[in-house]
Amino acid sequence: MKGIILAGGSGTRLAPSTDSMNKHLLAVFDKPMIYYPLSVLMLGGIKEFMIISTPADRPRFETLLGDGASLGISISYKDQSNPNGIPEALTISKEFIADDSVALILGDNIFYGQGFTTLLRNAIKNHRHATVFGYRVKDPQRFGVVEFDAYQKAISLEEKPKEPKSDFAVTGLYIYDNQAVELTKKLKPSNRGELEITDLNKEYLKRGKLDVELLGRGFAWMDAGTHESLFEASEFVKITQQRQGFKLACLEEIAYYLGYISREALYEKGKSMEKNDYGQYLLEIADRKHSEQYWDRIEKNPMLGLVK
Ligand code: TTP
Repeated sequence: MKGIILAGGSGTRLAPSTDSMNKHLLAVFDKPMIYYPLSVLMLGGIKEFMIISTPADRPRFETLLGDGASLGISISYKDQSNPNGIPEALTISKEFIADDSVALILGDNIFYGQGFTTLLRNAIKNHRHATVFGYRVKDPQRFGVVEFDAYQKAISLEEKPKEPKSDFAVTGLYIYDNQAVELTKKLKPSNRGELEITDLNKEYLKRGKLDVELLGRGFAWMDAGTHESLFEASEFVKITQQRQGFKLACLEEIAYYLGYISREALYEKGKSMEKNDYGQYLLEIADRKHSEQYWDRIEKNPMLGLVK
């Protein structure tokens, strides 16, 4: 399965912070926003990525993440010249997807919760055609909303409905089979002039090919697209990290525990940033005793779902 991270868009709600900077490079507490969605797909076991951004911003992403080799993954880049909508990512990256299936994640979405890695890996392993993730929200009017029957089978999808048929929003993480590229080509722009991801999901629903996984109340799902939500996401990350001493979305840590990079590489990376907390954290993980204790726990707790 290929992974696509969508980091284009216009970021108007975050102006003036986004007047000269791509939204997904802004910090969510102690690391760039794009680390969070990339970490999700890495934990899902995906190793080949494409980041889609704007022509002006692409070099900045390349400076940040390069070709992915330092994380033991591969990252390529493509431009979306205009924010024509989320499904356009699938046609822009059709050569990259080739005949594979694909996980698409919005670059400003943050997911966190115990068991998420297992849930995601199972969703990827068992996925049939299209899988989306539902999350109960207080304000469903702002989202794509999914309605279920008594067997948790999706029966309707509506984009930003005035009268939502359920409280379940569709989050910004989508898993599709290879048909998605062809189905996207048939989509028409909505009233706001964009291709809508809800329309693509409706095509799957119409064919009886849409599965919905629910993320329970123990999960956090946030987008960081407004000043308010960006600040809240930063606070959430800060508090969670401070309490447990584990970082969220630390790409080098994930790469190390997945066996993609060596302890030496982790150490070197930590050393290059040892003056800050992020670097010190990497050095701490590279410390033998610390990581062996962690491995002991992981091996005893298959629910964590990590494979070396
Ligand atoms: P949005 O938050 O809907 O749009 P935006 O990022 O342009 O921000 P604003 O509404 O403030 O102008 O986009 C959701 C995510 O999808 C975000 O991570 C950006 C990304 N995106 C693209 O990469 N290309 C697009 O054409 C669109 C519409 C969104």
